[in-house]
Amino acid sequence: MGRLEIEQLADRLLPVLRKKPGAFTDYDSLAQKLKADKPSVQEAIETLASWDYKLKKRGEAVAFIEAPDVLTATEIAYGLKTKSIARNIFAYKAVKSTNDLAAEMAEGGQPEGTIVVADQQTKGRGRLGRRWYSPEGTGIYLSIVLKPEFPTEMAPAVSVLTAVALADTLVKYNPDDVRIKWPNDVLIGGRKVAGILTELAAEREKINHIIIGVGINVNQAAGDFPEEIRHLATSVRRSVKKKVRRVDLLQSFLANFEKEYAGYKRSGLKKSHAKIRKYSSLIGHEITIRSGRHEETGRAVDIDVDGRLVLERDGVKSLINAGEVTVAKR
Ligand code: BTN
Repeated sequence: MGRLEIEQLADRLLPVLRKKPGAFTDYDSLAQKLKADKPSVQEAIETLASWDYKLKKRGEAVAFIEAPDVLTATEIAYGLKTKSIARNIFAYKAVKSTNDLAAEMAEGGQPEGTIVVADQQTKGRGRLGRRWYSPEGTGIYLSIVLKPEFPTEMAPAVSVLTAVALADTLVKYNPDDVRIKWPNDVLIGGRKVAGILTELAAEREKINHIIIGVGINVNQAAGDFPEEIRHLATSVRRSVKKKVRRVDLLQSFLANFEKEYAGYKRSGLKKSHAKIRKYSSLIGHEITIRSGRHEETGRAVDIDVDGRLVLERDGVKSLINAGEVTVAKR
């Protein structure tokens, strides 16, 4: 068998071994089951080991012990509990930006729910033209392709519901204090742990696609962050004091996202409204909000049922759709 065929055999062998973790299966029965010869099975086992799957060998038998924490399509798909989101997965070692690639794929006809994931980004983009620090092996860099039927006015709130899905995912790890800094930053203990970059492609009133870009700091240690963001950024690991499996966190986020997005399509933000308020880091604070050249200052008093920030100044309330918020020091 050639290299490619061995790798394909390894792909077929993996779910067989994985079904019974810790249990030994002998090479002969594997060969029979996979309709391959024994030396090829042995090579396929070596291939799995070279992909960092932890296996135990005993004579002519092998057992599955543990999967590596890698963001490959195989690992992301394994045990994933979604119906439509991430049923089509593109996973890479390194890309410039998953958002750019996802936009190309959306234009090329890839369906709603397609995801693009990378282990590293060389030109990760943040909002307002900023850079998103995207080192290999520690973070999650994900873009989701959406092709909704709803009107463009409904697009901005997708960021908010993504933030809710992220917060719901992160609280399960019991970190200090998970908050959403409206509209789309997720904070742990006051520092940014995840950011969302939503990009919309629309013509007149019709949405062609929305790309939801999500960057999550998962396993960075404090000193890993570049000097200039060290005081602003955190990671899940830093908060819970242990490494976290990225693939588990990603799967759980995808399931939460699917739920939030389906709910939004059905009935807007109604179902998530209580959570949006609960997680908000801004309600009750004096803030300044900037959008392009426009700037407003006031007290953030609420987030309405359409995901807009309610700002109060001199007893007058205004509704804000989007912008960059700075919280006044107290
Ligand atoms: C921000 O807070 O400024 C948004 C950060 C968004 C980063 C993610 S990482 C995956 C996707 N690809 C990108 O280039 N950016 C987003």
